[in-house]
Amino acid sequence: MFPPEINVELQKLEKNSLLRNLRYVVPVSPSKFVLNGEIIVNAASNNYLGLSHHPEVINETKKVIDRYGTGAGASRLITGSLDIHAELEEEIALIKNSETSLVFSSGYAANTGTISALVGKGDVIFSDRLNHASIIDGCRLSRADIIVYNHLDVTDLEKKLRKRDEYRKALIVTDTVFSVDGDIAPLKDLKKLAEEHCCMLMVDEAHATGVFGEKGGGVTESMHVEPDINMGTLSKALASQGGYVAGSSTLRDFLVNKARSFIYSTALSPASVASALAAIRVIRKNPRLRKKLWENVELVRKGLEELGFYLISRDSHITPVLIGDERSGVQFSQELLKNGVYCPILRYPTVERGKSRVRVSVTSAHTREDIERILEAFERSKKVVKNVQLA
Ligand SMILES: Cc1ncc(COP(=O)(O)O)c(C=O)c1O
Repeated sequence: MFPPEINVELQKLEKNSLLRNLRYVVPVSPSKFVLNGEIIVNAASNNYLGLSHHPEVINETKKVIDRYGTGAGASRLITGSLDIHAELEEEIALIKNSETSLVFSSGYAANTGTISALVGKGDVIFSDRLNHASIIDGCRLSRADIIVYNHLDVTDLEKKLRKRDEYRKALIVTDTVFSVDGDIAPLKDLKKLAEEHCCMLMVDEAHATGVFGEKGGGVTESMHVEPDINMGTLSKALASQGGYVAGSSTLRDFLVNKARSFIYSTALSPASVASALAAIRVIRKNPRLRKKLWENVELVRKGLEELGFYLISRDSHITPVLIGDERSGVQFSQELLKNGVYCPILRYPTVERGKSRVRVSVTSAHTREDIERILEAFERSKKVVKNVQLA
């Protein structure tokens, strides 16, 4: 029997403005979709370079489907390892400046599988307080002790590293670009601490790959830092699906043998491999794409600041705009939608109570007209929602 407590819990979420619902949309371009018959500007996508609709990415993917079919049909260790997996892994290694890499069926699987393979009971993980849920879940799954350090706080981490010697293996793990706050980890300091305290350093470049660095190698490339484990996803700027871990061949061999999310899950589909491969090649050939992204980001930030909004950070292409309490946050996001712009609210428990925010994410594919529409929607919503915390 389905226990009544489950329904009670749902009702409680609804009462506290915390109930989440799915919206079904039909994309018409990288920057717009149709929702309930209306064209909406998408200001929430992680398709940062708009490559989901790039002709070369689409054509290469079609060719691969014609040749390889749809699903991979088995896990990589059975019969699911395709030559194009190897080709993609070589391309990733190239942009990540690493010896080799391994692809997983998602970024979530890459994080949970990798962390839980590398450390276990008797080991310790030092984890940034605002790390992505997939890192947190990987840490919990590993059964290592987890020591959380304050967000981006190297001094706090250094203090906490005094406990390092009580354990066998140790791992420091962090996002590079934080998906909610859009700020960036101090990678050089983290690398130094990892070396001094004999820890592995793992970074999650989900929001940085394709966007930062001359080759699109992420913040590790732009900051010239080589972590031991360089993880990321194919699902954001690379406009596909899947995750990867780049690093040494020892790391790769270890994960092939020990990462349960790699071993016991069907291989990445040929279509996903093809689109990620094509996206990486398009990024390499077109630095203009990244330039356009930054131009659009600057336009939207300037406009929001002129309207009086408080931008929580300006460090990356992700622009979080403070709204305040949960109810106002939900109302603000609904108002934006009424004005033809989709920008969901991030609220407790994803962020602290009372600090709900809309996360504005424009891409290289947004036009000036799209950006004007976003700014107009913010201006109108500000007039309707009473408690917005302005700058
Ligand atoms: C920082 C970070 N890591 C990992 C993931 C998981 O990646 P994927 O969507 O490919 O499972 C995400 C995506 O939501 C993310 O933002």
